[in-house]
Amino acid sequence: MDLQLHDTTALVTGSSAGIGFATAVGLAREGAHVVLNGRDAGRLDAARQRLLDAVPGASIDAVAANVGTADGAEALIAAVPATDILVNNAATFGPQAFADIPDAEWQRHFDSNVMSGVRLSRHYLAGMLERDRGRILFIGSDAAVQPQVDQLHYSVTKAAGLALARGLAELTRGTRVTVNTVLPGPTATEGVTGVLDGLSEQTGLSHDQLVTQLFETNVTSSLLRRLATPDEVANLLVYLASPLAGLTNGAAVRAEGGILRSMI
Ligand SMILES: NC(=O)c1ccc[n+]([C@@H]2O[C@H](COP(=O)([O-])OP(=O)(O)OC[C@H]3O[C@@H](n4cnc5c(N)ncnc54)[C@H](OP(=O)(O)O)[C@@H]3O)[C@@H](O)[C@H]2O)c1
Repeated sequence: MDLQLHDTTALVTGSSAGIGFATAVGLAREGAHVVLNGRDAGRLDAARQRLLDAVPGASIDAVAANVGTADGAEALIAAVPATDILVNNAATFGPQAFADIPDAEWQRHFDSNVMSGVRLSRHYLAGMLERDRGRILFIGSDAAVQPQVDQLHYSVTKAAGLALARGLAELTRGTRVTVNTVLPGPTATEGVTGVLDGLSEQTGLSHDQLVTQLFETNVTSSLLRRLATPDEVANLLVYLASPLAGLTNGAAVRAEGGILRSMI
């Protein structure tokens, strides 16, 4: 299938690792010019090289910026004034008991996970509407609709992102611009590996044991019963980023392996 992504520019926030990187690879494979982003310039350089190894000849830019700050979002916008596809992927996450989460940590989650999407969408959506073409994708989570008590701050920000995406979709009425959210479930990314490292240290359990425990005690409704791969999530994102997905707008599309039991 030709996803008709040649001659498009795609900006993927938080794309030096994980789902963002896999999405950047998928988009580049389809011929899009891809803008990588992350906070750490060294990690970003390494990602650019890995992307070139995966897709020789790919057209890539990379902008180091923290999209969880107003200055970082502004710097990214200055470097990339317009894009056809914006993937709001960068986020912070990790388990913490509700009683132990201080205000500053709530604020950090809001800045990284919500305000990043607000600031970037505010800028890029205007250009998309003007050109009558564009895609904004948010990375949500099953936690957006089924809050996880071991990371309530994260869950709340993902719910906010879902409302933001649906609200922005309302602004696209009658145009060929769409705004959608993809809801991944537990996925084997660098970020999740880091969380498992921490839990391993605390509990003495191996990663495999922790993953088994996750499906036996936390996400018991999962039909998949394993971690997804970043590529599996990225496949859906790349499709939704394409002109072929024009009928899907204002939607929360699942890539969570059947954790959510509601029928629609
Ligand atoms: N993995 C899962 O199980 C899972 C499940 C559901 C939803 N999600 C969602 O999927 C998205 C990606 O998660 P992931 O697991 O792929 O993450 P990851 O492996 O931790 O990778 C995160 C990427 O984002 C960058 N990043 C983080 N904060 C940033 C910021 N403020 N500004 C710019 N770049 C930033 C990181 O690079 P630097 O650290 O160098 O900045 C890295 O490239 C997130 O929205 C997450 O909530 C993940």
